[in-house]
Amino acid sequence: MNKITIAIDGFSSTGKSTVAKQLAKHLGYVYVDTGAMYRAVTFYAMEHGLISDDDFNIEALVYQLPNIEVSFKFNKTLGFAEVYLNGINIEKEIRTLNVSSFVSKVAAVSQVRHKLVEQQQKLGKDKGVVMDGRDIGTVVFPDAELKLFMTASAEKRAIRRYKELIDRGDEVNYEDVLQNVQERDHIDTTRKDSPLKKAKDAIEIDNSDLSLKEQFDKILELVNMTI
Ligand code: C5P
Repeated sequence: MNKITIAIDGFSSTGKSTVAKQLAKHLGYVYVDTGAMYRAVTFYAMEHGLISDDDFNIEALVYQLPNIEVSFKFNKTLGFAEVYLNGINIEKEIRTLNVSSFVSKVAAVSQVRHKLVEQQQKLGKDKGVVMDGRDIGTVVFPDAELKLFMTASAEKRAIRRYKELIDRGDEVNYEDVLQNVQERDHIDTTRKDSPLKKAKDAIEIDNSDLSLKEQFDKILELVNMTI
C-alpha cells in the first residue's frame, strides 16, 4: 500500500497528538510531535536562564541554537517516541504549564523555526509519517497527501488540558489553563513567521462534540479514501 504523509495542524489542546499517535500505530507509520520539539527548545531556554516572566534573551537563544540537539527515541512500552534534549529524556518536563506559558514566544523566533522545520522535513522525507503541529500542512509538508485541521472551543480544550495536568499530579487551576490556551492561540495565529492557519486543502474537524473513537473513525475513513 502507498505510504503517505499525514499533516495534522490545529489549535492548542485539540487532541491532535492523541489521534496522531493512534493513527500512526494503526497504520505502522512514524509519529512526530513537533510541539514537543518547540517545547524542548523552550525548556533549554528556561534551564539556561534565557527566558522568564519579564525577560526573553532572543539573541542568546539564537546564538546557542547549535548547542541544542532535539531527538526522539521510540519507547516500546509507551508505544511512541519520547523527546530528548542533548541526550536526556525530557518528555515529562516539557508538559508543564510553565513550559506551555513560554513556548509560543520561543516558537515565534524564525531561527528556531528554521532549525526545527529542517529537522522535521528530514524525519518525514520517506513518507509513512503522521506529523502534528501548527504549520505542517502549510510550511513543513505543503504537499502532504492528507491535511487535517483540528478545532474545538477554547473552553472544551482547556477542560481537556486541565484534566490531563491534574491527572499527572500538577497543581493548576482551570482559569490559568484557559488563559494559557487563549494566549497561545493568539500568539500562534498572529506571529509573522508561519502563523497557524488552515491550509487551503486541509479538512477541518471540529471535535468539540466527538468522542475519541468517533474522531478516530472519521479520520481513518479519510485516510482510506486518500491511500
Ligand atoms: O502542540 P503543542 O501544544 O505541544 O505545541 C506547543 C507550542 O509549540 C504551540 O503552542 C506553538 O506555539 C508551537 N508550535 C509551533 N509549530 C509547530 C508545533 C508547535 O509553533 N509545528
